Amino acid sequence: MGMKKIILKKGIINLMPEDKEISSVKWKKILSLLREGDFAHPGEEEAIEKTLGIIPKDPNRNVLDLGCGIGGTASYVQENGWGKVVGIDLNPEVISYASEKYPNVTFYQSDAAHITEVLKDKFDLIYLFNSFYAFDDQQAAFVAMNQLANPDSDLIIFDYIDRGGFQDSSIPFPIELERTTHQLTKTGWQLIDTENLDEDYKRWYQDLMKKIEAKKEEILQIADQRLYDKVYDVYAYILKEIERGALGGEILRAKISRH
Ligand SMILES: C[S@@+](CC[C@H](N)C(=O)[O-])C[C@H]1O[C@@H](n2cnc3c(N)ncnc32)[C@H](O)[C@@H]1O
Repeated sequence: MGMKKIILKKGIINLMPEDKEISSVKWKKILSLLREGDFAHPGEEEAIEKTLGIIPKDPNRNVLDLGCGIGGTASYVQENGWGKVVGIDLNPEVISYASEKYPNVTFYQSDAAHITEVLKDKFDLIYLFNSFYAFDDQQAAFVAMNQLANPDSDLIIFDYIDRGGFQDSSIPFPIELERTTHQLTKTGWQLIDTENLDEDYKRWYQDLMKKIEAKKEEILQIADQRLYDKVYDVYAYILKEIERGALGGEILRAKISRH
C-alpha cells in the first residue's frame, strides 16, 4: 500500500493506516470526550443497540469483541447482559487503558489474525465495531474467528463500507460487499444478512463535527492546536466522503457455514 495524500481543509496531510497519532490513546481520549464514553465508533450506544439489539440477552454467553479499542463497547455489552466479554486489540496501549478502567472485562493484546495463540475458549458471539477496516489481513482474521466460534455462533461486523470510488488510507480496508462476502465464504462463514447504515453514518458524523466545534476548549486542554486541527480535518474528510456517497456504513451478520 503506497503513501496516499489527501487534501484537507488546511492543506495536504499524509494519513497512513499505521499513523501512530490516530491509533494513540490520546486520540481515543479526544473521541471519548466528544462521544461521552470510551467509544471509537460512530453512533456510540445507539449503534451498539442497533447492531446487537436482535441478540437475546444471556449473561452466560461467551462474547468476543475484536478490535475493542479502549473498552467502552466491551464494558457496555457485558454490563447490559449480552454475555461475558473478552476484548482483543492489536495496540498494547489501549489494552492497558481498558484493563485498568474496566476490570470486570477481560482484555488481551493480539493481532486479530493471531487470536488462536492467546484464546482457548470458544465464543457464541463475535462482534467488530469499526475495527475490521483496519485489519491488514482480513482473511486470516476470518479463519481465526472461525476456529474460535461455536457451531451456532453469530459474527457481526459494524463498519465503513466502500460504496464505490472511496480510497483513502485513513480507512484502508472498508467492507466491499463482493470481496468481503467472498472472503467470508472462503473461510467457512455464511453471510446471513446485511443492513445499510448510510443515513445513520451521515447523521452520526454530522453530530460529531458539531461536537468537535462545540467542545474545542475542552479538547485544547488535552491536545494542542495542531492535534485539534488534525482531529477536525480527519472527521470532516470522512463526512465529506459519506455525503458524496463514496463511503457508507453497514452491518454484516454471518453464521458458521453448514456445508
Ligand atoms: C476505530 S477503533 C474502534 C475501537 C472499538 N471497537 C470501539 O468501537 O470503540 C479500531 C481499533 O482496531 C484495532 N485494530 C486495528 N488493527 C487490528 C488488528 N489487526 N487486530 C486487532 N485489532 C486491531 C485498533 O488498534 C483500534 O483500537
